[in-house]
Amino acid sequence: MAEIDLLFTPVSVPIRDDTHAVVASQRAHRMAAQLGFSPVEQTSLSTAILEIARNIVKYAGSGEMVLVALQDEGRVGIAVLACDDGPGIADVDLALKDGFTTGRGLGLGLPGARRLMDDFDIASALGRGTTVIMEKWKRT
Ligand SMILES: Nc1ncnc2c1ncn2[C@@H]1O[C@H](COP(=O)(O)OP(=O)(O)OP(=O)(O)O)[C@@H](O)[C@H]1O
Ligand SMILES: [Mg+2]
Repeated sequence: MAEIDLLFTPVSVPIRDDTHAVVASQRAHRMAAQLGFSPVEQTSLSTAILEIARNIVKYAGSGEMVLVALQDEGRVGIAVLACDDGPGIADVDLALKDGFTTGRGLGLGLPGARRLMDDFDIASALGRGTTVIMEKWKRT
């Protein structure tokens, strides 16, 4: 089992409305800047987080986001855990397709976030909720 170092105290942000989504996004942007991520990497991360947090507000009502700064064999990264206990996603593969929406959005939030991050996973169960786990690593 590989060992990963925790760089800062993890940041937990409750997500209850779009204001919280912006706060989570800004916190991540700042954390990325402190870790030396490039401006483009900072913006990619904060944009992905904004989309995932806005989905929590829109589809689940509320949830939580945790940001963790990591170091793995000299590489520095940020892991993001976004959890809600909302309705869940019936078909995750479909939800990840460009343009798929059950709301009035563009259906670009999830696929866009996936493209902006280095690692992206969704665990979801109908009636139980959705968890998105994603990572962004600083280019060396
Ligand atoms: N946390 C969630 N809980 C339940 N369903 C979700 C959640 N996040 C996404 N979904 C489902 O996945 C679909 C696709 O999400 P995505 O963010 O890609 O598009 P959108 O939110 O509909 O539009 P956009 O983000 O472009 O404004 C949503 O329409 C919704 O059905
Ligand atoms: Mg969305």
